[in-house]
Amino acid sequence: MDRRKFIRTSCTACISATALASVLSSCTATKYISGKLGKDGLTVGLDEFVVRQNGKQTYRSFIIIRNEALQYPICVYRLNDKDYSALWMRCTHQGTELQASGDHLQCTAHGSEFDNKGTVKTGPADRNLRNFPVTVSDTELFIDLRAI
Ligand code: FES
Repeated sequence: MDRRKFIRTSCTACISATALASVLSSCTATKYISGKLGKDGLTVGLDEFVVRQNGKQTYRSFIIIRNEALQYPICVYRLNDKDYSALWMRCTHQGTELQASGDHLQCTAHGSEFDNKGTVKTGPADRNLRNFPVTVSDTELFIDLRAI
């Protein structure tokens, strides 16, 4: 195989792989919900985390709650079937809304990063995210917002 043919073949394979990756990632795109707002907090069905594909059931690692009553969204991470973390998506550096990406949150303003429990991993932010108490029942979880 000559050099040109090798490069052409390699580029075609890369483009195909990239296209396939974007199709697969769109299948598990970020899920936004508004939740059910009550006097003390938000209620979210556990089924919001469920993804059914090809007869298999898997789980999203996180969902994002956007509710017009809240100044910032809340990112809810599913750590395992009993543990969840509900994080206020407000950067502790200067208040920019964070972006969720896999198992961490990033700030586009100055590059701070936080893990899925809200612990600051990269500055300039030097404080962890606000983490709301979560109570899990058989079918739903309750996020206590009284600390806002
Ligand atoms: S506001 Fe987020 S890093 Fe500065």
